[in-house]
Amino acid sequence: MDTNAVIYQDLERILVKREDIAKAVKELGQKLTEKFRGEDAPVFVCILKGASVFFTDLIREIDLPLTTDFMVVSSYGSSTKSTGVVKIVKDLDKPVEGKHVVIVEDIVDSGMTLHYLKKVFANREAASVSIVTLLDKPARRRVDLTVDYSCFNIPDAFVVGYGLDYDEKYRNLPDIGVLHPRIYSAEEK
Ligand code: IMP
Ligand code: MG
Repeated sequence: MDTNAVIYQDLERILVKREDIAKAVKELGQKLTEKFRGEDAPVFVCILKGASVFFTDLIREIDLPLTTDFMVVSSYGSSTKSTGVVKIVKDLDKPVEGKHVVIVEDIVDSGMTLHYLKKVFANREAASVSIVTLLDKPARRRVDLTVDYSCFNIPDAFVVGYGLDYDEKYRNLPDIGVLHPRIYSAEEK
């Protein structure tokens, strides 16, 4: 769809265009290919649902015999503010012991989700744990977290599209945009 589609009207502005996303994803795929070449097949873990679009594009840019697994964690309800509580709603299908784990996230905000997941995979004795994110909001960090690969640093604004949602909507926007505050201020009063 193009940017005059109806759902684009809920955006204040477009922050990252689809062409720039595609370019960054391709470059990241090449970096990850280099990093894990010659190693045992890494397992790429998609953090659902936000990372789903990024994940499916990214793995197709990686020239390695990787495996995939999926996890659902919750840290947000329908609001735009983190609850600070991380819960595994759906766990991985296979154990990660002895494997190189690459966690693929849509966005790092407070950092609490990934801080928690990194500990979980370390406890499960993964051979290594790497963190890959499409977006990073460094200004919002509340815990110390090393992000190994990030495609874009963004300002402190609530964004949607390319998998990211507000109240489960807008995941299908091909670009990433700042949601117009009128959309959530009406609901959070
Ligand atoms: P953290 O634990 O605070 O780092 O939050 C990470 C999760 O919060 C992400 O995986 C997203 O699901 C959600 N999130 C944080 N910021 C945004 C945003 O701007 N738009 C949509 N979801 C967000
Ligand atoms: Mg998420």
